[in-house]
Amino acid sequence: MPIDTKPVASSGPWDAKLQQFHGGQEWAQLSNFVEDFSVTTNPFGMPQGAKQAATHSIEHSHHYPPADQEPAKTSLARFLWPASFENDRDRLILGNGASELIDLVIRMAPSGTWRPGPFYTQYKEYERSARNNGFALLGPESSEKGNVACLVNPCNPTGDYLELPELKAWVAENVQPGGYAIIDESMQPWHSAQFREHSLVGQREYVEKLYREQGISVFVMHSWTKLWCCTGLRLGSVVCPTAEHMRAIKKIQVPWSVNTVALAFLNAVVDDEEYLRDTWELTPLWRKATVDRLQGMFPGWEFHGREFLSWIWIDTRDADVAERAVDLARAAGVPVRSGGPGYNLPTFIRVAVREPQKVDVLVGALKKLQQE
Ligand SMILES: Cc1ncc(COP(=O)(O)O)c(C=O)c1O
Repeated sequence: MPIDTKPVASSGPWDAKLQQFHGGQEWAQLSNFVEDFSVTTNPFGMPQGAKQAATHSIEHSHHYPPADQEPAKTSLARFLWPASFENDRDRLILGNGASELIDLVIRMAPSGTWRPGPFYTQYKEYERSARNNGFALLGPESSEKGNVACLVNPCNPTGDYLELPELKAWVAENVQPGGYAIIDESMQPWHSAQFREHSLVGQREYVEKLYREQGISVFVMHSWTKLWCCTGLRLGSVVCPTAEHMRAIKKIQVPWSVNTVALAFLNAVVDDEEYLRDTWELTPLWRKATVDRLQGMFPGWEFHGREFLSWIWIDTRDADVAERAVDLARAAGVPVRSGGPGYNLPTFIRVAVREPQKVDVLVGALKKLQQE
């Protein structure tokens, strides 16, 4: 296949022709930077203890990282399955961000059709990887079962969320026998202290039965760069249906793809219970306070997404208004994510949940919009 790699007009640092647009790239260019509202990371920033562990690990970074990703991998397994991690950890593998694993799993998947989840849009890396790997792409409205079906739950950016019975019904209706279902639960741990009871990660019997009876492989993908606010470190994992699937990924994964610093961070962060308690307690309060403030200012805007999420998906219902909001926020050092590039939903903006003082700056910037 001839590959046209000539540079084209880009969206900021992204090469619009070759790469998928994401938020989080503007902060370094802003001399008046205050806070990044364009990403979905945890408002509490990097957990301090884990940050220290990561910093100390630089001392050992003249050595190769462990090829088996231990002890960080077992520590994450203990976090995911406190009671049964010894039985489950062989199904787990870490990656250089979820992005690496998304691409690896799709490369291993049975060829044919790819389909997204039921929502009108979702995080785009699954689609990008499917396209690059020669899959025929179906839309969310298609009634055809896919050879590979990828559902982001909770869905970034729309904020929709399926509980387990709905999720299982979707898998039953949308995946071909012998196919792959990749369920992205990166944002699911925000659910509550009981997140494990609502997660597919704990549904081993269901996953085994589906594989035994229909040959359907269910993978549960996590980006850990959002919950633990470490996008620069690159940290993700995937829970595979069986240990054989995990080994198949390991076989094609580049060695040492998760570096020493990221492994040290992960090994420590899973024990930071206070950080998660704050996350579960304050994220919904700060989110509601931000929605209330913006709704008061802009009664015509629509606010979407579940109450526990780390972002708000907003339909301003006017592409010019959305563009102006993005420009004003950027100019005030508080960039927000436009729904235009990437999602092609130009009336939408995505705003991260942040502490009230930071929201003051955003609200101050958007006041100009009220006056126009
Ligand atoms: C739902 C979802 N999955 C996966 C990723 C990939 O994250 P990373 O490669 O940083 O782990 C993201 C990043 O925004 C995301 O929102």
